[in-house]
Amino acid sequence: MSGAGPDSSTTAELRAELFGVHIPELQLSPEEYRAGLQAAGLAPGERYLELGSGHGHGLLIAATEFGALATGVEYLDDAVERTRRAAERAGVADRVHLLHDDLRRVDPAPFDVVHMHLGPAFHDVLAARLERLLAPDARVVAAGWRVPGWLPDADALEAWDAGYVYRPSDPRTHASWGERDGDDAVELHLHADLRDLEPRLDGIAAPDRVAVSRTASGRGTTILVSLPSDPSVELSVWARDRAGRFTRRGPVFARP
Ligand SMILES: C[S@@+](CC[C@H](N)C(=O)[O-])C[C@H]1O[C@@H](n2cnc3c(N)ncnc32)[C@H](O)[C@@H]1O
Repeated sequence: MSGAGPDSSTTAELRAELFGVHIPELQLSPEEYRAGLQAAGLAPGERYLELGSGHGHGLLIAATEFGALATGVEYLDDAVERTRRAAERAGVADRVHLLHDDLRRVDPAPFDVVHMHLGPAFHDVLAARLERLLAPDARVVAAGWRVPGWLPDADALEAWDAGYVYRPSDPRTHASWGERDGDDAVELHLHADLRDLEPRLDGIAAPDRVAVSRTASGRGTTILVSLPSDPSVELSVWARDRAGRFTRRGPVFARP
């Protein structure tokens, strides 16, 4: 049993320095978990990862009510122990796996749904990793706070107002074409919720007349492409995948 003496406060400070701020009193209610997991479409047999699983309520709900294989990562000893005991009591110890570790070290690649209720500082650290490592149909549930630059799933937004569902490696994109005044050229404004991306143009007659400018906004990128008014031109967005290769993501944008 740990006391509240000087040793334990030093340990707490060390932990805060190593792992960042934690807010264990901010636990989601079972209803909030259910709404988030439903919005993300967690299905039986899917792999669920909770980053900062706290006392384990989310893991138990994912395993018992959604039939998922649940993994939690948490660095607080007592929270890990509590979760272990609760999983045994609920008879799902074989479907609830616990990692007593720093959540920033876990590889999210094998998981179908990743749940996080951590706040903006963690989102900054985690977003680029999730974009690159998750499989194309994986969903991320961010309870409480938006992930800057990522565009949330619109249907989930309708169904659940306490958080956001994203598909980081199948990015959302917004694009609009416009004519450029007094010039035989068009412009495409594109926002994609990816950071490590490049736009590629096909069907362009005069590539030297294409101008591309980009601005980072949060994790996402906004690109302005100015190009000769060629009706056959198409633009696509490519991003680096988990193997470090550029692969095409999202739709191809053709001139209307
Ligand atoms: C706001 S609580 C959310 C708990 C639970 N997921 C919920 O929504 O009810 C954040 C949790 O993340 C844990 N945590 C914070 N930083 C961590 C880190 N670097 N590694 C592992 N766990 C961490 C905290 O101990 C805490 O249990």
